[in-house]
Amino acid sequence: VDTTATYGDGTPRRAVLAAGSVGTAALLMGCAVYGRQPPPPPPPGGDTEGGGGDGESTPVVAAADVPLGGGVIAADLGVVVTQPSDGQFRGFSAICTHQGCTVASVEGGTINCPCHGSRFSIEDGSVVQAAQGLSPDQQSPLPEVGITVDGDTVSLP
Ligand code: FES
Repeated sequence: VDTTATYGDGTPRRAVLAAGSVGTAALLMGCAVYGRQPPPPPPPGGDTEGGGGDGESTPVVAAADVPLGGGVIAADLGVVVTQPSDGQFRGFSAICTHQGCTVASVEGGTINCPCHGSRFSIEDGSVVQAAQGLSPDQQSPLPEVGITVDGDTVSLP
């Protein structure tokens, strides 16, 4: 009787456990981009106010374009230039003293507001006809604006 017993091949098995440890979990989420903001403009270096007038006048109208006995409204400059008598020019605010409309015409010897009917003298800005519901003494005249006439150009100094 053969009782030889063979047990397995005897090959040892080694489980190799590769322990790869990654220890760097650095998550830096610090990237934020904000909208670009333009820098504020630098303040002007010099204020020329009160410097004695260096000729920086603003042309308003050609004197030849101001009718005798009438006027021209330069609405963008807020001024009315009139010529009450030959060669005599006057400047007034173009903003009505009633409720602030810009005057719209110079006719019949007056500067006329379209809103409520005010009319002002082309000679001195006084109230010739007050706004509806007012008497002339309840309304202020148009303020006079200083103008200069150089050659054929009427300017604001
Ligand atoms: S705003 Fe000129 S008459 Fe009223």
